[in-house]
Amino acid sequence: MNAPPIIRTRSLAKTYLIGHVRVAALDDVSLSVDEGRFVAVTGASGSGKSTLLNLLGGLDTPSSGTIEVAGAVVSAMDREALARYRRHQAGMIFQSFNLIASRTALENVELPLVFSNVDKKERKRRAAELLEKVGLAHRANHRPS
Ligand SMILES: Nc1ncnc2c1ncn2[C@@H]1O[C@H](COP(=O)(O)OP(=O)(O)OP(=O)(O)O)[C@@H](O)[C@H]1O
Ligand SMILES: [Mg+2]
Repeated sequence: MNAPPIIRTRSLAKTYLIGHVRVAALDDVSLSVDEGRFVAVTGASGSGKSTLLNLLGGLDTPSSGTIEVAGAVVSAMDREALARYRRHQAGMIFQSFNLIASRTALENVELPLVFSNVDKKERKRRAAELLEKVGLAHRANHRPS
């Protein structure tokens, strides 16, 4: 039997209300993505790409429809569950970096592990290892600017 898809949406819709104008950013989006696949979402500006990614990443909630990721129903999660989902399962690389200006590179990388209650020594070790991996070890103690 085939493994179930890692991501599945059914009839996903997101409507924004601007004043009293309704903007259908997503309308009836049903898709599935198998584990290990790389998928690019392409389309004209304003076609709903960011809206879709925000929903898949647990940053926003749909107006209707369902989202399942790795067997969990993301669209039914409350704020607390979404926070845990973002911390442990969803990774997002933003167009703007969203780094914290007052923290060093090492501290920025370390931050999610602080919220996960990983002990300090282990946090530093893992953050340093990741910076090393992307060729930024020599900038570990520099701030983003
Ligand atoms: N927070 C919001 N409030 C109101 N309308 C929004 C909001 N976010 C997006 N929209 C509208 O929803 C539609 C889809 O926008 P979205 O940002 O998802 O498109 P996009 O495909 O990511 O575009 P781009 O290629 O420019 O990044 C657009 O009409 C946009 O104006
Ligand atoms: Mg966008």
